Amino acid sequence: MKKSSAITVTLKAAATLDGKIATASGHSKWITGEVARQKVHELRHENDAILVGINTVLADDPELTVRGIEEGRSPVRIVLDSKARIPEQCRVFQNDGIPVIIVTGNEAPLRSWPELANLTIIKAPAKIPEVSWVLSELQKHGIKSLLVEGGSLIHASFLKSNCVNKLALFIAPKIIGGQRAMTWCGDLNINNLNETPQIEICSITPLGDDVLISAKIK
Ligand SMILES: NC(=O)c1ccc[n+]([C@@H]2O[C@H](COP(=O)([O-])OP(=O)(O)OC[C@H]3O[C@@H](n4cnc5c(N)ncnc54)[C@H](OP(=O)(O)O)[C@@H]3O)[C@@H](O)[C@H]2O)c1
Repeated sequence: MKKSSAITVTLKAAATLDGKIATASGHSKWITGEVARQKVHELRHENDAILVGINTVLADDPELTVRGIEEGRSPVRIVLDSKARIPEQCRVFQNDGIPVIIVTGNEAPLRSWPELANLTIIKAPAKIPEVSWVLSELQKHGIKSLLVEGGSLIHASFLKSNCVNKLALFIAPKIIGGQRAMTWCGDLNINNLNETPQIEICSITPLGDDVLISAKIK
């Protein structure tokens, strides 16, 4: 049963036809084409905040900003980083005045942080920040809509928390195959088909060679 939250949560992924978001060796740029990637900037513009896991920052060093949209508004950037491993020089910390929130666990080691006026460090009351707790904290920061941009482990945690409202799956006409390449939703511990989330596909939009599947979780 989906939990009700004051924050509308959308999971976004760029995946192959077999649901993979990177090769087994971690190569993920670029799965989808330019038109789909521009649509991602529209989605970012429509949301108050973007959230990713620390492994995505370490692998891809994403900017998490809105680009290519006239008067586009960049959302708050959030990283879940239990052990406070995020490097000071990564692009999330660019000094553009947009709020940045790093959520650590309560056993994170002490460290220095970039001297950014808009940087907030939130320590969770657990070793690994739990999704519904994170959402209740973000609500206090005035966030009403959240775009979760992966990776696989983060998407799995959000889906298991039953706090996801919408899916935005950008699907490319590619296949990676294999057991070791990550899927966009990770391991959900589903043993019976009756346990799968109830999903309603709302639209399928062609974007260049790719498609965007927009769906809601009932
Ligand atoms: N194609 C796409 O759309 C796309 C999008 C994003 C990423 N990627 C790819 O995905 C890969 C990274 O994905 P990933 O699954 O390894 O890692 P991830 O989801 O980016 O990050 C997972 C890490 O976040 C931390 N974390 C903190 N709180 C968490 C929570 N409640 N639930 C889960 N994790 C939490 C944990 O590390 P700590 O314990 O150290 O905090 C965890 O190992 C990269 O290869 C990247 O290129 C692809």
